[in-house]
Amino acid sequence: MIISKPFLKVEQIQQRVKELAGRISRDYEGKEILAVGILKGAFMFFADIVRTIQVPMTIDFLIVSSYAKTESTGEIIIRSDLKEDIKGRDIILIEDIVDTGYTLSHLREMLLARQPASLKICAFLDKRPRRKVEVPLDYIGFEIPDEYIVGYGLDYENRFRNLPYIAIFKESV
Ligand code: IMP
Repeated sequence: MIISKPFLKVEQIQQRVKELAGRISRDYEGKEILAVGILKGAFMFFADIVRTIQVPMTIDFLIVSSYAKTESTGEIIIRSDLKEDIKGRDIILIEDIVDTGYTLSHLREMLLARQPASLKICAFLDKRPRRKVEVPLDYIGFEIPDEYIVGYGLDYENRFRNLPYIAIFKESV
């Protein structure tokens, strides 16, 4: 197993989080947000961005996973649903990475059916070359190439989530 040197350094991540939080704060001035973190991957990005956003908010979490055998259909399982009623509220979904797009596209449909006032998506990383379904992303941290990455909340078999930076993961040389 090989982990590259930082692909995105701590300082780059912090700078970008600050910029995104600034945009979100301006866009939602005078409103109250319900920030929804998608676990586990988004936990670090979520914690960083919510404490930098300057508008009132409540927070909630979704725990999701995908069926390993159904990558082609992208079926996902809701392990733990929201505790908040989102009807009529301004929601920002906070995700770690968009790969095929299946997870966010499924969650978006599910949440829109609950009739929020608005629903925007903030994704830290966008692995655009891998996209299978289009999903509208309102705030993107970084576009990255088709590499498997770990750190800053993202894992390989549940490891490396604690790295404070993003690194490229290779199984062997
Ligand atoms: P999607 O449904 O294919 O867009 O996949 C989204 C989920 O797959 C993310 O929330 C991650 O948990 C996981 N994922 C996709 N690419 C990577 C990666 O490069 N490293 C770690 N996890 C990834």
